[in-house]
Amino acid sequence: MKAVVYKEPFDVAVEEVPDARIEQPTDVLVKVTTSCICGSDLHMYEGRTGAEPGIVFGHENMGVVEEVGSGVATVRKGDRVVMPFNVACGFCKNCLAGRTGFCLTVNEGFAGGAYGYVSMGPYRGGQAEYLRVPFADFNCLQLPRGEEHENDFALLADIFPTGYHATELAQVSPGETVCVFGAGPVGLMAAYSAMLRGASRVFVVDRQPDRLRLAERIGATPIDYSRTDAAGQIKEHTDGEGTDKGIDAVGYQATVPSGEEQPAMVLNTLVESVRPTGMLGVVGLYVPADPGGPTEAAQHGQLLFDVGRFFEKGLRMGTGQANVKAYNRQLRDMIISGRAEPGFVVSHRVPLAEAPDAYRHFDHRDDGWTKVLLAPGTNGAKAA
Ligand SMILES: NC(=O)c1ccc[n+]([C@@H]2O[C@H](COP(=O)([O-])OP(=O)(O)OC[C@H]3O[C@@H](n4cnc5c(N)ncnc54)[C@H](O)[C@@H]3O)[C@@H](O)[C@H]2O)c1
Ligand SMILES: [Zn+2]
Ligand SMILES: [Zn+2]
Repeated sequence: MKAVVYKEPFDVAVEEVPDARIEQPTDVLVKVTTSCICGSDLHMYEGRTGAEPGIVFGHENMGVVEEVGSGVATVRKGDRVVMPFNVACGFCKNCLAGRTGFCLTVNEGFAGGAYGYVSMGPYRGGQAEYLRVPFADFNCLQLPRGEEHENDFALLADIFPTGYHATELAQVSPGETVCVFGAGPVGLMAAYSAMLRGASRVFVVDRQPDRLRLAERIGATPIDYSRTDAAGQIKEHTDGEGTDKGIDAVGYQATVPSGEEQPAMVLNTLVESVRPTGMLGVVGLYVPADPGGPTEAAQHGQLLFDVGRFFEKGLRMGTGQANVKAYNRQLRDMIISGRAEPGFVVSHRVPLAEAPDAYRHFDHRDDGWTKVLLAPGTNGAKAA
Protein backbone atom coordinates (compact mmCIF):
# COMPACT_ATOMS: atom_id res chain seq x y z
CA MET A 1 0.00 0.00 0.00
CA LYS A 2 1.02 3.63 -0.36
CA ALA A 3 1.91 5.70 2.71
CA VAL A 4 3.58 8.98 3.75
CA VAL A 5 7.07 8.08 4.98
CA TYR A 6 9.41 10.39 6.90
CA LYS A 7 12.77 10.50 5.08
CA GLU A 8 14.78 13.24 6.80
CA PRO A 9 14.13 16.73 8.17
CA PHE A 10 11.84 18.65 5.80
CA ASP A 11 11.33 15.64 3.57
CA VAL A 12 8.50 13.11 3.36
CA ALA A 13 7.74 10.80 0.42
CA VAL A 14 4.74 8.75 -0.67
CA GLU A 15 6.09 5.20 -0.95
CA GLU A 16 5.02 1.56 -1.08
CA VAL A 17 5.14 0.01 2.41
CA PRO A 18 4.02 -3.45 3.59
CA ASP A 19 0.21 -3.62 3.75
CA ALA A 20 -1.44 -2.91 7.08
CA ARG A 21 -3.16 -6.07 8.31
CA ILE A 22 -4.97 -7.61 11.25
CA GLU A 23 -2.34 -8.68 13.81
CA GLN A 24 -4.49 -9.40 16.88
CA PRO A 25 -8.05 -10.78 17.14
CA THR A 26 -9.09 -7.44 18.69
CA ASP A 27 -7.91 -5.40 15.63
CA VAL A 28 -9.83 -4.05 12.68
CA LEU A 29 -8.40 -2.90 9.37
CA VAL A 30 -9.69 0.48 8.16
CA LYS A 31 -9.61 1.77 4.60
CA VAL A 32 -8.62 5.38 5.24
CA THR A 33 -10.85 8.07 3.72
CA THR A 34 -9.28 11.04 5.53
CA SER A 35 -6.05 11.49 7.49
CA CYS A 36 -5.09 15.01 8.58
CA ILE A 37 -1.70 16.66 8.79
CA CYS A 38 -1.15 18.12 12.26
CA GLY A 39 1.15 20.70 13.86
CA SER A 40 2.40 17.75 15.92
CA ASP A 41 3.66 16.13 12.70
CA LEU A 42 5.66 19.28 11.99
CA HIS A 43 7.80 18.83 15.12
CA MET A 44 8.92 15.47 13.65
CA TYR A 45 9.04 16.81 10.07
CA GLU A 46 11.42 19.59 11.15
CA GLY A 47 13.73 17.11 12.88
CA ARG A 48 12.84 18.51 16.29
CA THR A 49 12.12 15.15 17.95
CA GLY A 50 13.88 11.81 18.15
CA ALA A 51 11.83 10.48 15.17
CA GLU A 52 13.86 8.14 12.95
CA PRO A 53 13.52 8.02 9.16
CA GLY A 54 11.04 5.37 7.97
CA ILE A 55 8.17 6.22 10.31
CA VAL A 56 4.74 6.37 8.59
CA PHE A 57 2.99 9.56 9.72
CA GLY A 58 -0.70 10.07 10.44
CA HIS A 59 -2.45 10.09 13.82
CA GLU A 60 -5.73 11.80 12.78
CA ASN A 61 -7.55 9.03 10.98
CA MET A 62 -11.00 8.10 9.77
CA GLY A 63 -12.33 5.63 7.24
CA VAL A 64 -14.45 2.58 6.54
CA VAL A 65 -13.87 -0.81 8.18
CA GLU A 66 -12.52 -3.29 5.65
CA GLU A 67 -11.83 -6.34 7.79
CA VAL A 68 -12.63 -7.36 11.36
CA GLY A 69 -10.60 -9.51 13.79
CA SER A 70 -12.24 -12.59 15.29
CA GLY A 71 -12.35 -11.07 18.79
CA VAL A 72 -14.10 -7.82 17.84
CA ALA A 73 -17.65 -7.61 19.18
CA THR A 74 -19.25 -4.37 17.99
CA VAL A 75 -17.46 -3.08 14.89
CA ARG A 76 -18.53 -4.47 11.51
CA LYS A 77 -17.23 -4.41 7.98
CA GLY A 78 -18.56 -1.29 6.26
CA ASP A 79 -18.82 0.81 9.44
CA ARG A 80 -17.66 4.40 9.07
CA VAL A 81 -15.37 5.20 12.00
CA VAL A 82 -12.97 7.83 13.37
CA MET A 83 -10.20 6.90 15.78
CA PRO A 84 -8.73 9.01 18.60
CA PHE A 85 -5.06 9.72 17.89
CA ASN A 86 -4.41 7.94 21.19
CA VAL A 87 -4.13 4.17 20.95
CA ALA A 88 -5.65 2.88 24.20
CA CYS A 89 -6.62 -0.47 25.70
CA GLY A 90 -9.77 0.42 27.62
CA PHE A 91 -8.95 -1.74 30.65
CA CYS A 92 -5.89 -0.26 32.41
CA LYS A 93 -6.10 2.04 35.43
CA ASN A 94 -5.77 5.21 33.36
CA CYS A 95 -8.18 4.14 30.61
CA LEU A 96 -10.78 3.20 33.23
CA ALA A 97 -10.45 6.71 34.67
CA GLY A 98 -11.01 8.24 31.21
CA ARG A 99 -7.35 9.17 30.80
CA THR A 100 -6.84 7.34 27.54
CA GLY A 101 -3.96 9.62 26.55
CA PHE A 102 -1.93 7.83 29.22
CA CYS A 103 -2.85 4.19 28.57
CA LEU A 104 -0.51 1.90 30.50
CA THR A 105 -0.56 -1.20 28.29
CA VAL A 106 -0.20 -0.16 24.64
CA ASN A 107 3.33 1.27 24.74
CA GLU A 108 5.69 -0.60 27.01
CA GLY A 109 7.54 1.52 29.57
CA PHE A 110 5.52 4.61 28.69
CA ALA A 111 2.11 6.08 29.52
CA GLY A 112 0.34 6.73 26.22
CA GLY A 113 0.32 5.42 22.66
CA ALA A 114 -0.51 6.95 19.28
CA TYR A 115 -0.48 6.15 15.57
CA GLY A 116 2.50 7.31 13.55
CA TYR A 117 4.32 9.19 16.27
CA VAL A 118 7.80 9.04 17.77
CA SER A 119 7.99 7.30 21.18
CA MET A 120 4.27 6.49 21.06
CA GLY A 121 4.55 2.78 20.29
CA PRO A 122 4.75 0.51 17.25
CA TYR A 123 1.53 1.77 15.59
CA ARG A 124 1.89 2.87 11.99
CA GLY A 125 0.20 6.07 10.92
CA GLY A 126 -2.86 6.45 8.73
CA GLN A 127 -1.49 8.80 6.08
CA ALA A 128 -1.76 5.65 4.03
CA GLU A 129 -4.32 3.57 2.22
CA TYR A 130 -5.03 1.31 5.21
CA LEU A 131 -4.69 1.48 8.98
CA ARG A 132 -4.54 -1.24 11.60
CA VAL A 133 -6.65 -0.26 14.64
CA PRO A 134 -5.88 -2.16 17.87
CA PHE A 135 -8.58 -2.75 20.54
CA ALA A 136 -11.08 -1.75 17.91
CA ASP A 137 -14.21 -1.99 20.07
CA PHE A 138 -12.71 0.67 22.33
CA ASN A 139 -10.94 2.85 19.77
CA CYS A 140 -13.47 3.13 16.93
CA LEU A 141 -16.06 5.87 17.21
CA GLN A 142 -19.04 5.06 14.99
CA LEU A 143 -20.20 7.67 12.48
CA PRO A 144 -23.31 7.90 10.31
CA ARG A 145 -22.60 6.13 7.02
CA GLY A 146 -22.10 8.10 3.83
CA GLU A 147 -19.94 11.11 3.12
CA GLU A 148 -21.66 13.85 5.08
CA HIS A 149 -19.55 15.97 7.47
CA GLU A 150 -16.34 14.19 6.36
CA ASN A 151 -14.12 17.17 7.26
CA ASP A 152 -15.88 17.90 10.56
CA PHE A 153 -15.77 14.26 11.66
CA ALA A 154 -12.08 13.89 10.71
CA LEU A 155 -11.27 16.58 13.27
CA LEU A 156 -12.69 14.33 16.01
CA ALA A 157 -9.47 12.28 15.84
CA ASP A 158 -7.49 15.05 17.46
CA ILE A 159 -7.85 18.79 17.18
CA PHE A 160 -11.51 19.32 18.13
CA PRO A 161 -11.28 17.13 21.26
CA THR A 162 -7.79 18.51 21.96
CA GLY A 163 -9.04 22.09 21.79
CA TYR A 164 -11.91 21.06 24.03
CA HIS A 165 -9.48 19.31 26.39
CA ALA A 166 -7.54 22.57 26.75
CA THR A 167 -10.73 24.26 27.96
CA GLU A 168 -11.38 21.35 30.31
CA LEU A 169 -7.85 21.58 31.76
CA ALA A 170 -8.47 25.29 32.34
CA GLN A 171 -12.03 24.60 33.55
CA VAL A 172 -13.53 27.25 31.32
CA SER A 173 -16.97 28.16 32.68
CA PRO A 174 -19.85 30.27 31.33
CA GLY A 175 -19.15 34.00 31.39
CA GLU A 176 -15.40 33.71 31.79
CA THR A 177 -12.72 35.44 29.75
CA VAL A 178 -10.11 33.26 28.05
CA CYS A 179 -6.89 33.96 26.17
CA VAL A 180 -5.66 31.37 23.67
CA PHE A 181 -2.06 31.47 22.42
CA GLY A 182 -1.71 30.06 18.91
CA ALA A 183 -4.27 30.41 16.10
CA GLY A 184 -3.19 27.17 14.47
CA PRO A 185 -5.84 24.47 14.11
CA VAL A 186 -5.54 23.51 17.79
CA GLY A 187 -5.75 27.08 19.07
CA LEU A 188 -8.75 27.80 16.85
CA MET A 189 -10.47 24.66 18.17
CA ALA A 190 -9.68 25.72 21.74
CA ALA A 191 -11.17 29.17 21.10
CA TYR A 192 -14.22 27.57 19.46
CA SER A 193 -14.60 25.18 22.41
CA ALA A 194 -14.32 28.03 24.92
CA MET A 195 -17.26 29.65 23.13
CA LEU A 196 -19.25 26.41 23.12
CA ARG A 197 -18.72 26.40 26.90
CA GLY A 198 -20.12 29.93 27.19
CA ALA A 199 -17.02 32.11 27.59
CA SER A 200 -17.96 35.78 27.49
CA ARG A 201 -14.83 36.88 25.65
CA VAL A 202 -12.03 34.97 23.94
CA PHE A 203 -8.72 36.47 22.82
CA VAL A 204 -6.60 34.62 20.27
CA VAL A 205 -2.91 35.48 19.91
CA ASP A 206 -0.80 34.75 16.82
CA ARG A 207 1.02 36.69 14.13
CA GLN A 208 -0.35 34.92 11.05
CA PRO A 209 -2.95 37.30 9.56
CA ASP A 210 -4.94 34.51 7.81
CA ARG A 211 -5.26 32.54 11.03
CA LEU A 212 -6.16 35.62 13.08
CA ARG A 213 -8.90 36.35 10.53
CA LEU A 214 -10.38 32.91 11.17
CA ALA A 215 -10.32 33.59 14.91
CA GLU A 216 -12.19 36.82 14.31
CA ARG A 217 -14.70 35.01 12.10
CA ILE A 218 -15.78 32.79 14.99
CA GLY A 219 -16.19 35.81 17.27
CA ALA A 220 -12.83 35.93 19.08
CA THR A 221 -10.73 39.07 19.50
CA PRO A 222 -7.52 38.66 17.47
CA ILE A 223 -4.24 39.84 18.96
CA ASP A 224 -1.18 40.13 16.72
CA TYR A 225 1.82 39.65 19.00
CA SER A 226 4.22 40.87 16.32
CA ARG A 227 2.68 44.35 16.61
CA THR A 228 1.96 44.72 20.32
CA ASP A 229 2.85 43.09 23.59
CA ALA A 230 0.19 40.35 23.90
CA ALA A 231 -0.06 40.34 27.72
CA GLY A 232 -0.37 44.15 27.76
CA GLN A 233 -3.14 44.04 25.14
CA ILE A 234 -5.04 41.33 27.01
CA LYS A 235 -4.82 43.29 30.27
CA GLU A 236 -6.00 46.44 28.55
CA HIS A 237 -9.09 44.60 27.29
CA THR A 238 -9.83 43.21 30.80
CA ASP A 239 -9.60 46.36 32.98
CA GLY A 240 -5.97 45.66 33.79
CA GLU A 241 -6.84 42.35 35.44
CA GLY A 242 -6.03 39.66 32.88
CA THR A 243 -8.29 36.84 31.72
CA ASP A 244 -9.83 34.21 34.00
CA LYS A 245 -8.30 31.38 32.01
CA GLY A 246 -5.46 30.87 29.54
CA ILE A 247 -4.57 28.26 26.93
CA ASP A 248 -1.23 27.31 25.35
CA ALA A 249 -1.81 25.91 21.84
CA VAL A 250 1.74 26.63 20.65
CA GLY A 251 4.23 24.58 22.67
CA TYR A 252 8.03 24.53 22.73
CA GLN A 253 8.54 25.83 19.21
CA ALA A 254 7.12 29.24 20.21
CA THR A 255 8.74 32.10 18.37
CA VAL A 256 9.39 35.74 19.21
CA PRO A 257 8.15 38.25 16.59
CA SER A 258 11.48 38.15 14.72
CA GLY A 259 10.93 34.42 14.17
CA GLU A 260 13.58 33.17 16.61
CA GLU A 261 12.47 30.35 18.94
CA GLN A 262 12.04 30.93 22.66
CA PRO A 263 10.61 27.71 24.10
CA ALA A 264 9.10 29.09 27.33
CA MET A 265 7.74 32.25 25.75
CA VAL A 266 4.08 31.25 25.62
CA LEU A 267 4.07 29.76 29.13
CA ASN A 268 5.60 32.94 30.55
CA THR A 269 3.30 35.25 28.59
CA LEU A 270 0.33 33.22 29.85
CA VAL A 271 1.50 33.70 33.44
CA GLU A 272 1.42 37.47 32.76
CA SER A 273 -1.90 37.42 30.89
CA VAL A 274 -4.06 35.43 33.33
CA ARG A 275 -5.39 36.96 36.53
CA PRO A 276 -4.32 35.77 40.00
CA THR A 277 -5.84 32.34 40.85
CA GLY A 278 -6.61 31.69 37.18
CA MET A 279 -6.01 28.40 35.41
CA LEU A 280 -3.88 27.43 32.44
CA GLY A 281 -4.62 24.60 30.00
CA VAL A 282 -1.44 23.59 28.17
CA VAL A 283 -1.94 21.36 25.13
CA GLY A 284 0.88 22.85 23.02
CA LEU A 285 3.59 20.19 22.98
CA TYR A 286 6.67 20.10 25.24
CA VAL A 287 9.18 17.28 24.80
CA PRO A 288 11.93 15.77 26.97
CA ALA A 289 14.32 15.50 24.01
CA ASP A 290 14.70 18.18 21.33
CA PRO A 291 17.87 17.71 19.28
CA GLY A 292 17.44 21.16 17.69
CA GLY A 293 16.66 23.07 20.89
CA PRO A 294 18.22 26.56 21.15
CA THR A 295 20.13 25.80 24.40
CA GLU A 296 21.68 22.73 26.01
CA ALA A 297 18.96 22.77 28.68
CA ALA A 298 16.18 23.14 26.09
CA GLN A 299 17.57 20.10 24.26
CA HIS A 300 16.60 18.15 27.39
CA GLY A 301 13.20 19.78 27.74
CA GLN A 302 14.36 22.09 30.55
CA LEU A 303 12.97 25.59 30.08
CA LEU A 304 13.21 28.85 31.98
CA PHE A 305 9.64 28.91 33.28
CA ASP A 306 8.69 31.86 35.48
CA VAL A 307 7.64 29.72 38.42
CA GLY A 308 8.07 32.64 40.86
CA ARG A 309 5.32 34.71 39.22
CA PHE A 310 3.26 31.55 38.65
CA PHE A 311 3.33 30.76 42.38
CA GLU A 312 2.85 34.36 43.48
CA LYS A 313 -0.35 34.60 41.43
CA GLY A 314 -1.67 31.27 42.76
CA LEU A 315 -2.12 29.97 39.23
CA ARG A 316 -2.85 26.36 38.37
CA MET A 317 -1.89 24.49 35.25
CA GLY A 318 -3.01 21.30 33.48
CA THR A 319 -0.89 19.71 30.76
CA GLY A 320 -0.46 16.72 28.51
CA GLN A 321 -1.84 14.74 25.61
CA ALA A 322 -5.58 15.09 25.21
CA ASN A 323 -7.75 12.17 26.29
CA VAL A 324 -9.68 12.30 23.03
CA LYS A 325 -12.08 9.52 23.96
CA ALA A 326 -13.37 11.51 26.92
CA TYR A 327 -15.06 13.96 24.53
CA ASN A 328 -15.26 12.61 20.98
CA ARG A 329 -18.73 11.05 21.31
CA GLN A 330 -20.34 14.22 22.64
CA LEU A 331 -18.54 16.41 20.11
CA ARG A 332 -19.63 14.06 17.30
CA ASP A 333 -23.24 14.49 18.40
CA MET A 334 -22.85 18.28 18.37
CA ILE A 335 -21.70 18.01 14.74
CA ILE A 336 -24.62 15.75 13.81
CA SER A 337 -27.15 18.06 15.43
CA GLY A 338 -25.62 21.14 13.80
CA ARG A 339 -24.46 22.73 17.07
CA ALA A 340 -20.78 22.58 16.07
CA GLU A 341 -19.00 22.95 12.72
CA PRO A 342 -15.30 22.57 13.45
CA GLY A 343 -14.59 22.09 9.71
CA PHE A 344 -14.25 25.87 9.34
CA VAL A 345 -10.49 25.40 9.98
CA VAL A 346 -10.02 23.04 7.03
CA SER A 347 -8.31 24.85 4.17
CA HIS A 348 -7.22 21.98 1.91
CA ARG A 349 -8.26 18.44 1.09
CA VAL A 350 -5.77 16.75 -1.27
CA PRO A 351 -4.90 13.25 -2.53
CA LEU A 352 -2.20 11.27 -0.71
CA ALA A 353 0.24 11.81 -3.60
CA GLU A 354 0.29 15.54 -2.85
CA ALA A 355 1.40 15.03 0.76
CA PRO A 356 5.03 16.18 0.25
CA ASP A 357 3.83 19.48 -1.20
CA ALA A 358 1.15 19.88 1.44
CA TYR A 359 3.69 19.33 4.24
CA ARG A 360 5.89 22.06 2.73
CA HIS A 361 3.08 24.60 2.52
CA PHE A 362 1.71 23.83 5.99
CA ASP A 363 5.21 23.91 7.51
CA HIS A 364 5.91 27.33 5.93
CA ARG A 365 2.56 28.47 7.33
CA ASP A 366 1.87 29.73 3.82
CA ASP A 367 -1.07 32.08 3.56
CA GLY A 368 -4.34 30.14 3.76
CA TRP A 369 -2.79 26.75 4.63
CA THR A 370 -4.52 26.30 7.99
CA LYS A 371 -5.41 22.62 8.10
CA VAL A 372 -4.69 20.03 5.44
CA LEU A 373 -6.62 16.79 5.06
CA LEU A 374 -5.19 13.95 3.01
CA ALA A 375 -7.72 11.84 1.16
CA PRO A 376 -6.24 8.47 0.15
CA GLY A 377 -8.30 6.86 -2.56
CA THR A 378 -8.94 10.09 -4.43
CA ASN A 379 -6.97 11.32 -7.41
CA GLY A 380 -8.03 14.85 -8.17
CA ALA A 381 -7.51 17.75 -5.79
CA LYS A 382 -10.73 19.10 -4.38
CA ALA A 383 -10.98 22.35 -2.47
CA ALA A 384 -12.24 21.96 1.06
N1 LIG B 1 -1.81 17.87 23.73
C1 LIG B 1 -2.26 17.26 22.67
O1 LIG B 1 -2.92 16.24 22.76
C2 LIG B 1 -2.00 17.84 21.31
C3 LIG B 1 -2.75 17.43 20.21
C4 LIG B 1 -2.55 18.04 18.97
C5 LIG B 1 -1.59 19.03 18.84
N2 LIG B 1 -0.84 19.39 19.93
C6 LIG B 1 0.17 20.45 19.85
O2 LIG B 1 -0.52 21.70 19.79
C7 LIG B 1 0.34 22.67 19.16
C8 LIG B 1 -0.42 23.40 18.08
O3 LIG B 1 -0.81 22.53 17.04
P1 LIG B 1 -1.32 23.11 15.64
O4 LIG B 1 -1.69 21.97 14.78
O5 LIG B 1 -2.31 24.18 15.88
O6 LIG B 1 0.08 23.71 15.13
P2 LIG B 1 0.54 24.93 14.22
O7 LIG B 1 2.01 24.83 14.20
O8 LIG B 1 -0.23 24.93 12.94
O9 LIG B 1 0.09 26.24 15.02
C9 LIG B 1 0.89 26.88 15.97
C10 LIG B 1 0.61 28.37 15.87
O10 LIG B 1 1.31 29.04 16.94
C11 LIG B 1 1.74 30.29 16.46
N3 LIG B 1 2.77 30.81 17.35
C12 LIG B 1 4.13 30.57 17.36
N4 LIG B 1 4.72 31.25 18.35
C13 LIG B 1 3.73 31.94 19.00
C14 LIG B 1 3.74 32.83 20.10
N5 LIG B 1 4.87 33.15 20.74
N6 LIG B 1 2.54 33.37 20.50
C15 LIG B 1 1.40 33.06 19.84
N7 LIG B 1 1.33 32.21 18.78
C16 LIG B 1 2.50 31.66 18.36
C17 LIG B 1 2.18 30.00 15.03
O11 LIG B 1 2.21 31.17 14.24
C18 LIG B 1 1.10 29.01 14.57
O12 LIG B 1 0.02 29.65 13.92
C19 LIG B 1 1.55 21.87 18.64
O13 LIG B 1 2.59 21.98 19.59
C20 LIG B 1 1.03 20.45 18.63
O14 LIG B 1 2.07 19.51 18.74
C21 LIG B 1 -1.04 18.80 21.14
ZN1 LIG C 1 -2.73 15.86 15.63
ZN1 LIG D 1 -5.24 1.51 28.79
